[in-house]
Amino acid sequence: MIPLAIIGGSGFSGLPSLLVSDAQTVATPFGETSAPVTRGRLGDAEVLFLPRHGPSHHLPPHRINYRANLWALRNCGAEHVVALAAVGGITPRFAPTVLAVPDQIIDYTYGREHSIHDGTTGTVEHIDLTTPYCEELRQALISACTHTGQTVIDTGVYGATQGPRLETAAEIRRYERDGCDMVGMTGMPEASLARELGLCYASLAFVVNWAAGKGDDGIITMQEIEANLALCVERIVGVLTNLATV
Ligand code: HPA
Repeated sequence: MIPLAIIGGSGFSGLPSLLVSDAQTVATPFGETSAPVTRGRLGDAEVLFLPRHGPSHHLPPHRINYRANLWALRNCGAEHVVALAAVGGITPRFAPTVLAVPDQIIDYTYGREHSIHDGTTGTVEHIDLTTPYCEELRQALISACTHTGQTVIDTGVYGATQGPRLETAAEIRRYERDGCDMVGMTGMPEASLARELGLCYASLAFVVNWAAGKGDDGIITMQEIEANLALCVERIVGVLTNLATV
């Protein structure tokens, strides 16, 4: 059976409930991955797991080797990749602790190695990214949420920002005018690289704070982010277990 691959984000340096059987350091044409690729069982299913910020959460979003990570997962046999994504909520429905499966992206990142077609192969490639996420996997994620009793917002525009700093209130107002519902720092170039590599990629986003200027508290604190994250972990593990098993 082809294993589902899971990329862990903030709060997921490991995957609770994963019974690890193997950890493989994968050599890639793009250099080192964030961590060895872990193989193990989640429920009855075999999965691959890779924490994008590294095993001790030491890699900031702009230093992650997205190309190596995705290439390594494909090399380990993955065809489907679920990316976990902690996000800030911009529009009213995207309140802290909400789960969402975004269907669109706006990319505000810069200076990242964002393509495997970097001019060294002698050909120029332009992939289609009209629908940046794999619809089959998006629907499977939404079903897994429903089957595990988790309310989920089944669409939404993910704004990918450079980080590692959080945004200004004016930046968030601009992203809202652009049409963003949520904001995170790692969704690109991960999604487009997955498409370049022919991987079916979708994201399970979980809101850990109101984006800058949207909450009542004035500023965003790490305590608030961590508290909301803690409320999401078990629910997400349940969704992933259901997804991997069916
Ligand atoms: N902005 C960007 N990325 C994030 C946020 C945010 O408010 N919260 C979690 N990841």
